[in-house]
Amino acid sequence: MGTVIHNRKSFVVITGIIISTFLFVKCIDDSSKSTTANNNKNKFQEFAGSKVCAECHKKIYDTHVLTAHYLTSQPANEKNIKGSIAEGEHTFYYNPNVYVSVQKRDSLFYQAEYVDGVEKYFAPINITVGSGKRGQTFLYWNNHRLFQLPLTYFTALKQWTNSPGFSNRVVFRRPITSRCLECHSTFFEKINTDTNSLVEEFDRTHIVYGVDCEKCHGPAANHVAFHQKNPSATKAQFIINPSNFTRTQSLELCQLCHGGRLTKSKPSFSFQAGEKLSDYFSMDTVQKNISNIDVHGNQYGMLIASKCFKMSKMTCVTCHNSHQNETGNKILFSQHCMSCHTEANNTFCKAKNKVGNKIINNCIDCHMPEQASKSIMVLLQGQNIPTSATMRSHFIAVYPTETKNFLQAQKSK
Ligand code: HEC
Ligand code: HEC
Ligand code: HEC
Ligand code: HEC
Ligand code: HEC
Ligand code: HEC
Ligand code: HEC
Repeated sequence: MGTVIHNRKSFVVITGIIISTFLFVKCIDDSSKSTTANNNKNKFQEFAGSKVCAECHKKIYDTHVLTAHYLTSQPANEKNIKGSIAEGEHTFYYNPNVYVSVQKRDSLFYQAEYVDGVEKYFAPINITVGSGKRGQTFLYWNNHRLFQLPLTYFTALKQWTNSPGFSNRVVFRRPITSRCLECHSTFFEKINTDTNSLVEEFDRTHIVYGVDCEKCHGPAANHVAFHQKNPSATKAQFIINPSNFTRTQSLELCQLCHGGRLTKSKPSFSFQAGEKLSDYFSMDTVQKNISNIDVHGNQYGMLIASKCFKMSKMTCVTCHNSHQNETGNKILFSQHCMSCHTEANNTFCKAKNKVGNKIINNCIDCHMPEQASKSIMVLLQGQNIPTSATMRSHFIAVYPTETKNFLQAQKSK
């Protein structure tokens, strides 16, 4: 078998490089004990899908499809699978005798396990999860159940790695729960109605991929039907507009997925924008002590501990436009800071003189620095201590070390 010979060769190459595993501990779903029956409040028919929004909201639609939200789950295809399937790059070795390789067979993609060069098991890549900013993981269907595939793509290393939270052996049977999908999609309809069953089954045709328009605006089939029938109506009907939300409503919409671990008290996909999160989750699990909060996945917990948050009416939307991909746009984010911190009202940066005029381009690296995540870690081969990925801290404060580094980097320019 040609592939076997080839893969021996690539093993030599791969062992030379780093073999790594990484963990999205937060993303290991603590499957709630209280999983209950199928009463997804929003039936699939109530969703219109975002394509049709473009008819009347073209500008928003065109930028929204470029966001990490929209891209965070998709039906897998050649274009959206991030990792390489090129010879020498598509294999991950668990030990010298066991590896998994990612392959294209006919028009579909697969992950296949080999032991001593013999194929043992394989499964298709059906769904991608993750925009690929930090990584992307893959799911496959087995009848109506979803499972995670053994290999995940880790963007920082541009490599296939052992999937997050998997021990160092090949696993094809890790079930995907509705809470995982609730954070990474708009809607998956459950079909099993057995209250006591921990096995979750989904209707393969009743899915709204991505964190799409209707996650934040509610199912919109009635809105679309009304406005298509009444083209002269200018007042919106049958739609949720978050710009009318109270501060708490606005924050809780984002907290649903950016508030760290929450233990659910109702089935996933029941919560709708504008509702009270505490009706769906037991909020006493929300971490309040800042030193215990991880930068990963809990922007809410970090932000609310900040003085900026406590002493203003700020929400996530103060700095983030949900319809645009603004990744890395430090100038734009700094303008949001300066909408409150001005020289005129004497609330501007006290370090201004040290930084000079360029300060207006970057408030972020000193006051919201990238920090090591305690839960996204990469275990490099031959090391005992995992290497962390970094995340933006949403605890807005004065960070003396980062300031020193920033000023030094500026001097050496
Ligand atoms: C046939 C035209 C049409 C389609 C299709 C359509 N809308 Fe609208 N939408 C309107 C009109 C008209 C308004 C009111 C004027 C405005 O705000 O633009 C509106 C307003 C809105 C608003 C603001 C609500 C408010 O109170 O002002 C939101 C949010 C919205 N639409 C979301 C959506 C989403 C999501 C979709 C796709 C699922 C969609 N719309 C599809 C016509 C449409
Ligand atoms: C249904 C869950 C969900 C909701 C609700 C949600 N997000 Fe997210 N958000 C995610 C996920 C998942 C990602 C990571 C996407 C990826 O990279 O795959 C993300 C990523 C982001 C990012 C990073 C974007 C980038 O370019 O890297 C920002 C900023 C963000 N969300 C802000 C918000 C704000 C503000 C709200 C509330 C208005 C919100 N999110 C509501 C799930 C959600
Ligand atoms: C992550 C949540 C999120 C997603 C996804 C999202 N929106 Fe919004 N949308 C908001 C928020 C929050 C506001 C209110 C903004 C504000 O208060 O400034 C808003 C406001 C609007 C408005 C009112 C007009 C405006 O610009 O203020 C329209 C129309 C709209 N959205 C349409 C859409 C459409 C169409 C999509 C998908 C193509 C979409 N939204 C996706 C959160 C979202
Ligand atoms: C409570 C909500 C939540 C749950 C549950 C959750 N995630 Fe996430 N996930 C996020 C958010 C938010 C991000 C990105 C922002 C961050 O890490 O803070 C993310 C990031 C990711 C990324 C990296 C995306 C990128 O390109 O940067 C992957 C891959 C991922 N999650 C997979 C999963 C899988 C698989 C599950 C279920 C087994 C899961 N997540 C469960 C909210 C969640
Ligand atoms: C909605 C208004 C608002 C926005 C936007 C805002 N802040 Fe603040 N910020 C405040 C207020 C109010 C305080 C408290 C001022 C005081 O101490 O009297 C504060 C305090 C601070 C402090 C002092 C923190 C401490 O612990 O002493 C820093 C540093 C700061 N802000 C930086 C920023 C940066 C950087 C941004 C942008 C990423 C930003 N702020 C965005 C309102 C805001
Ligand atoms: C004072 C401004 C401000 C507020 C308020 C704010 N953010 Fe951010 N956020 C930022 C900045 C700046 C970044 C870094 C953007 C970049 O470099 O791409 C960021 C990045 C993010 C990211 C990507 C994280 C990463 O490390 O890649 C997520 C997710 C996010 N914000 C979610 C939220 C949520 C949810 C809220 C509300 C609880 C919120 N943000 C409130 C300024 C803010
Ligand atoms: C080189 C790093 C650096 C940059 C860039 C920077 N800051 Fe600061 N900032 C500091 C330091 C250090 C302090 C504390 C100075 C002191 O107390 O003497 C500070 C203080 C502040 C304070 C007052 C905090 C207090 O104790 O009352 C605010 C508000 C603030 N900065 C906002 C901003 C804003 C807005 C920007 C962007 C326009 C910005 N900073 C850019 C390092 C920086």
